Amino acid sequence: TVKLGILISGRGSNMQSLVAGAGSAYEVVVVASDRPSAPGLSWALEHGIATFALSPKDVGKATYEAALDAALRAAGAEYLALAGYMRLLSDEFVARWRERIVNIHPSLLPKYKGLDTHARAIAAGDEAAGCSVHLVTEELDGGEVLGQAEVPILAGDTAESLAARVLAEEHRLYPRVLAEWLNR
Ligand code: GAR
Repeated sequence: TVKLGILISGRGSNMQSLVAGAGSAYEVVVVASDRPSAPGLSWALEHGIATFALSPKDVGKATYEAALDAALRAAGAEYLALAGYMRLLSDEFVARWRERIVNIHPSLLPKYKGLDTHARAIAAGDEAAGCSVHLVTEELDGGEVLGQAEVPILAGDTAESLAARVLAEEHRLYPRVLAEWLNR
């Protein structure tokens, strides 16, 4: 059973679905955040999961990442899952965890890397949107795609309504694809 660390920046609904999906493939040993006020951190605390929080704004990015790396290793994390982690990891950090970091992104990669994915899909007149679980490399949202789920874009969809339907699929996709990939 792989020991998993989860990185969040906010709400943490994907973190919750990863915790719910833990089993023989992985167990969640720590939740870390670059935002000490992230609501997902309180949820993790209340559920007895070790947490780490530090703001890069307070200490600088290099110190932040060194402390993050140390905390993850101290907690025994072997793999990392980004779950709404909204900050770019440095090349150095990615290299230290190479092939051992996955992310969930709210688009059908390689379409719409970066932010505002749902508004961009609607503006482009796409018929479908979705989410992707992918390996994290130095290239933003550019690593190998491990699994995707598609959601139709409906007439009258707003970025918000579409995001809500995609999020429901994220919650199903992420634990399943992560477990499959770890068992590969
Ligand atoms: C999710 O939709 C996730 O795919 C997205 O942020 C949301 C986080 O929600 N991630 C990104 O945009 C990464 N660039 P959550 O905190 O409730 O999981």
